[in-house]
Formats: sequence, C-alpha cells, structure tokens
Amino acid sequence: MSEATPTGGAPNEVTPPNPDAIFALHSAAMREASEPRDGIKPTPVSYLIMCFFWVLFGGWYMGYYSGEFRANGLNERAVGGPLAAAPPQNPMVLGKEIFGPCMQCHQETGLGVPGSYPPLVGSEYVLGDKRRLVAILLNGITGDLVVKGKTYNSQMPSWKLREDEEIAAVLTYIRASWGNSADSVPTNLVTTIRKELGDKGGWDAKSLAEFAESKPAAVTPVEAQATK
Ligand code: HEC
Repeated sequence: MSEATPTGGAPNEVTPPNPDAIFALHSAAMREASEPRDGIKPTPVSYLIMCFFWVLFGGWYMGYYSGEFRANGLNERAVGGPLAAAPPQNPMVLGKEIFGPCMQCHQETGLGVPGSYPPLVGSEYVLGDKRRLVAILLNGITGDLVVKGKTYNSQMPSWKLREDEEIAAVLTYIRASWGNSADSVPTNLVTTIRKELGDKGGWDAKSLAEFAESKPAAVTPVEAQATK
C-alpha cells in the first residue's frame, strides 16, 4: 500500500502508479473466476448426448411397458381385448368386404366362370348344409366337384387364416346375396368346426361328402341354435 501512496513532491504532481502495487491491489479480484453470463455459451455436447440417450430410453420404455397401447393395457384383470368390447359388426357388411378376393374366381355376381369356377348363386353347397359349407371354406377343395349339375375341376383355396367371425360373415353374405336367401352362419359354428377339423388337409368331393355325413353330437346344438 505504502508504495502506491504519493511520496511528496510538488503539489498537483501525480506520481505515476507503480504497476506492482496495482497488481498487488487487484490480486484478490483477479483470483476470482469470471461471473457466468447468460446466453453466451453453446449447449455442451455432453448434455446433448445425454438428452439423446434419455429420449432413446424413454421410447424403449414406453414401447416395452405400454401394453401395446391397448385401452386396457394397465388393467391387470382385463377380460378380452378391445375387439371383444367392440360392438359386433353387421355380418352382411363385413361379409361383403371379405368377399373381395373371392370375386377373382366366383365373380362379383356370384355366377362364377362356366367351366372353371362354380357359381355360388343357387349352389347346393352354398344353400345346403352349413357344416359342409364352413368345411369347404376352412380347408379348401380340389378335384371333380359337381355344382348345379355341372362338373368343375379346379382348386378352391383354404381360408383358414381368416378369423371365425370373417368366415361366418362371408358365408352369411353369399347365402343371402344375388337372390340366395338362406339363413345366416353363426360365428360359433365356424369355431366348432375349426376345432373339429384340426389340421386336416384340403377336401375332395368324396372326403367332403363323408365329413358331411358324419355328424358329431357336439355340433348339433350349435346348428340348432344357428337355424333359429
Ligand atoms: C382361386 C379361385 C377361387 C377363389 C379365390 C375362391 N374360390 Fe371358391 N371355388 C373355387 C373353385 C375352383 C371351386 C370348385 C373346386 C373344385 O373344383 O373342386 C370353388 C368352390 C367353392 C364353393 C363350393 C361350390 C359352390 O360353387 O358352391 C364355395 C361355397 C366357394 N368356393 C366359396 C368361396 C368363397 C366364399 C370364397 C372367398 C372367401 C372363394 N370361394 C374363393 C375357386 C375359388
């Protein structure tokens, strides 16, 4: 301090400051880190990387524990899914939709293609025994098949990958379209016959006829319920 003090001399004469004294005086202030100031530093990369991993983890966590975003995903004792809760579809509307790929062969008119694809209009297979009809759809059929007095020999694919409800609906639809007027096919009939058939392969006319004649008792009540 004493060096910084003017040491006499003429009045009004300013002694040049001694740099050492100034440094000594300010050393305390210079030791302090500079005050942080807002808005001038870029976001640290490490922070960005951390955020990235948190978002990644969040996405994984949600995907893993969201219960597939089902409405009842957090319900420990959920009965059925949203499908079971949804109102039943009108089988004629659903059936028409499912009929889309059938048109390729049986045509939009249900009349088929003479010589290649049998008609569904007025067909004894469509209008007759429902159990036999469901069996055709589930397993498909090949070989000679007589429909309305004409013999066809080609391949009808299996539709067993479709839901029971969809098969029942498309059959209900073809039984009640283009002038056909047979009653509907209930979903539980399809369920029963699907169980009964297991992984049996495709039909031909003979094996289908044998199946149609064998009437397991278990199916009868379902059919009785179906016809009412
Ligand atoms: C790839 C062509 C093809 C498609 C697609 C197809 N069928 Fe067939 N369908 C046939 C053939 C061929 C037969 C006769 C099989 C035979 O000759 O043994 C047949 C037979 C049938 C029969 C029994 C005979 C009759 O005419 O009544 C029904 C019922 C039937 N199909 C319904 C359907 C329904 C319903 C769909 C759609 C879900 C469908 N088919 C899709 C080719 C097809």
